[in-house]
Amino acid sequence: MYDFRPSAQTAKPELYRDLLQAAEALTTGEPDGVANMANVAALLWEFLPQVNWTGFYRIVDGELVLGPFVGRPACIRIPVGQGVCGAAAQTGATQLVVDVHAFPGHIACDGDTRSELVVPVLRNGKVVAVIDLDSPELARFDAEDRAGIEALAAILADRV
Ligand code: SME
Repeated sequence: MYDFRPSAQTAKPELYRDLLQAAEALTTGEPDGVANMANVAALLWEFLPQVNWTGFYRIVDGELVLGPFVGRPACIRIPVGQGVCGAAAQTGATQLVVDVHAFPGHIACDGDTRSELVVPVLRNGKVVAVIDLDSPELARFDAEDRAGIEALAAILADRV
């Protein structure tokens, strides 16, 4: 049994240290990318307070296609360059959006979402997937979340 649930009071540095350790433990030696993304989506959901969607989009034949996630059913295909996920895939850079209503072209999969963090997963310099976190709280994500999820993306480079 895996029991990685942190306490609600856990400070972010400790939270991300534990999250990264858990992700490392769950994905080490497992070659199946779907299994790894599924477990990491579940870990993100368990560890992060105030989120309403945690999951992956993968690059398949030049567009983003929905991958394993926790949350409400979501848009299946997103063209590169569209929405927050498409911007991350196009630029290879993290998109930290404090207010999704202020992001031109934001794709609203869940009307409750107010802020979003999308981090590309790069393999040999190419985007192969993005990690997408949504929150119903304005400005839910900050530089610590960004650094933590970027470290997670680095762990997953060869595992998704
Ligand atoms: N809001 C995202 C779409 C994906 S859902 O949030 C799960 C975007 O604008 O790319």
